[in-house]
Amino acid sequence: MSKNRVIIFDTTLRDGEQSPGASMSLEGKLQIASAFQDLGVDVMEAGFPAASPGDFEAVSEISKLLKTTVPCGLARAVKNDLEKCVDSLKHAKNYRIHTFISTSDLHIKHKLQKTKEEVLDLIKYSVEFAKKNTDDVEWSPEDATRTDPDYLCKTVELAIKCGATTINIPDTVGYALPGDYERIIKDLFNRVPNIDKVTVSTHTHNDLGLAVANALAGVAAGARQIECTINGIGERAGNAALEEVVMAMKTRHDLMPYETNIVTNKINSCSKLLSNIIGFPVQYNKAIVGKNAFAHESGIHQDGMLKNSQTYEIMTPESVGVNKSSLVMGKHSGRHAFKEKLANLGYFNLNEDKIDHAFNKFKDLADKKRHVFDEDIAALVDDDLMKNNNVIKLISLDVEAGTKGQKAKLELEVYGENKSTEQSGDGPVDSIFKCIKEIFPHDVNLQLYQVHAVTEGTDAQATVSVRIEEKGRISVGQAADTDTLVASAQAYINALNKLILKRKRSAPSDKDYSAAI
Ligand code: KIV
Ligand code: ZN
Repeated sequence: MSKNRVIIFDTTLRDGEQSPGASMSLEGKLQIASAFQDLGVDVMEAGFPAASPGDFEAVSEISKLLKTTVPCGLARAVKNDLEKCVDSLKHAKNYRIHTFISTSDLHIKHKLQKTKEEVLDLIKYSVEFAKKNTDDVEWSPEDATRTDPDYLCKTVELAIKCGATTINIPDTVGYALPGDYERIIKDLFNRVPNIDKVTVSTHTHNDLGLAVANALAGVAAGARQIECTINGIGERAGNAALEEVVMAMKTRHDLMPYETNIVTNKINSCSKLLSNIIGFPVQYNKAIVGKNAFAHESGIHQDGMLKNSQTYEIMTPESVGVNKSSLVMGKHSGRHAFKEKLANLGYFNLNEDKIDHAFNKFKDLADKKRHVFDEDIAALVDDDLMKNNNVIKLISLDVEAGTKGQKAKLELEVYGENKSTEQSGDGPVDSIFKCIKEIFPHDVNLQLYQVHAVTEGTDAQATVSVRIEEKGRISVGQAADTDTLVASAQAYINALNKLILKRKRSAPSDKDYSAAI
């Protein structure tokens, strides 16, 4: 590998999934894994196999699916975690084990309640255990940026001696400034024997909005792997955003002459896919993938753009897969064109049945809506994919709304049985949700109800996101329809279906990393 090649280690399915409310179904994870492999991710942290049976299954299925991307699992320095990691990854030809333990005084004393000597013993134990099973071993000193520099050097030296091939330096709490982070990495290069024989990696959190800046500072100091997530999702304020680090190095190649394997024109579809699967909308002004990232509203800017797009654009929208002339499909478009469109939007792996189903839905939509935009097609396909294997299905919905009161009449299929009810509430959405609760009794907190128009115009499809919480388990549902009320019912039902799946898996409410060792 050339000395300027930067490995992209994607942790959307592990650190990203630790974002409150971002948990994904197995099917969603497999779709993401396949799309991110096509995106050109080098290593994919598929999960934390010991966290729950669901995580174990996901890592195992992903390790069977990946061919060009190396699958990786996370493990604390405990036998059970390490064994589960090996077990879940064993189907892959090559795999990586990522093992970690805290090294800062604060974590060692209060979280681990151990001595520094005991931590050194556990580093030796965990790295050697991993090395017996695979050559590709990554080790992380958790809370590295708040660790005593001498002790950090000692731990890194030991991990390398025991066989680690990648040393990752987490800014676990997003505390470092770019200058600090650069200094920490340089210090390791200057002081740790054999550090030039391994890959040094960045893992930066965004609590101060500096995750991307810190990751790039790490690369400037000699790191050649960046751990990141699409849309920057992750614990608390998230991780460094893959799309931002990659496009920063590509756009400012003059100052950062580094290469990655990322096929940048697939970035936008991966961002949309993830956003639809977890139900987190992408912030409008988000760099690279936000709806406004390539929009020009002011007259002066529009005038400049018409004369020469470089006046106000530092990269082309096409380079990240944003197609500005997205109005192409209509009621006369055929299946072949539709299939091509799906591939352009990043849906490469749909089987013929799924394509047929999506095509029929597209035709229905084209009957209701004059212009069908790329966003509409993506919304309907994602909506369709999310509805497989559901316990609760919407059969019909009638709503009365207006100044004289609001009432909903709803029919659902629940575990194969049709049930209906009629309820009135404070508004049509409240009436619908009351009907759902009447037919399928449950006790959850509704944390979020949000409606977005997928495109412009009064005939636009609405995407509705619903977040519910039951005993600490968070479930997010999403649905799209030209009828906002139908989308609302579907989104709520989708959240309930995911919750039922979670209950079945009896996964811990959130991944319990704190119950360490
Ligand atoms: O932020 C962190 O410290 C982590 C480690 C497990 C690498 O995510
Ligand atoms: Zn992290």
